[in-house]
Amino acid sequence: MERLHKILARHGVASRREAERWIRDGRVSVNDNIVREPGASADEQRDAIAVDGQPLPRRLPPRVLMLHKPVGFLCTSRKNRERGATIFDLLPTDRRYFSVGRLDRNTSGLLLVTDDGDFALRLTHPRYGTRKTYLVETDVPLTERDIRRLVDGVELEDGPARAEEASLTTPRRLRLVLSEGRKRQVRRMTAAVGARVIRLHRTRMGSLSLGALPSGQWRELTADEVRHLMKEKRRGMEEDHHVSGG
Ligand code: URA
Repeated sequence: MERLHKILARHGVASRREAERWIRDGRVSVNDNIVREPGASADEQRDAIAVDGQPLPRRLPPRVLMLHKPVGFLCTSRKNRERGATIFDLLPTDRRYFSVGRLDRNTSGLLLVTDDGDFALRLTHPRYGTRKTYLVETDVPLTERDIRRLVDGVELEDGPARAEEASLTTPRRLRLVLSEGRKRQVRRMTAAVGARVIRLHRTRMGSLSLGALPSGQWRELTADEVRHLMKEKRRGMEEDHHVSGG
């Protein structure tokens, strides 16, 4: 079950505020019954929801692309292009895309973009906690003690941060898995153990892996991959409800 005004907004027929007004005005029905309570809920999978008697348009699944972002490209919107090349220069121009989180200009690797802004926001919500894998090259060698500190947690200016996993493949090559996505988090965590990041590359997000996708290229996720992403999200939300409810 979900609040009716949110369902209407997600289907793109109205803003949330507009949808609330429509509900108050008696324009919205659930299973042929007019609903007037602004806080009413419905199950969009099971209930027949209509506005002015017209069933909600079927919601198309979001189009999601995986981009192998090269170093030197910004994840900001096209409006900021005077600051340099952006990832949007690498994407098709058939529609408007939103990036799912961001990578720094000097970070390369897996970035998701989608034509569904709401979906992009939900995928980056901290409670979703997508696991992201980074390969990090540092200016000085790290030790096993540094690795333990990264897993136990280091203090950053916006609070403690810890890696889900950390391991050294060579003394200056680190593999880091984070479930948060704070600004410049990998760079700041690496600095907290006394090293500077020379190269930062993201290889995985949740169940998705960059694989052999060449730098600067994108590919569309398959319907199965998108379904899987949505399922991962739901699982995150359910766990969240469980925690806050108990
Ligand atoms: N952490 C960073 O510091 N930069 C990125 O681009 C991604 C994660």
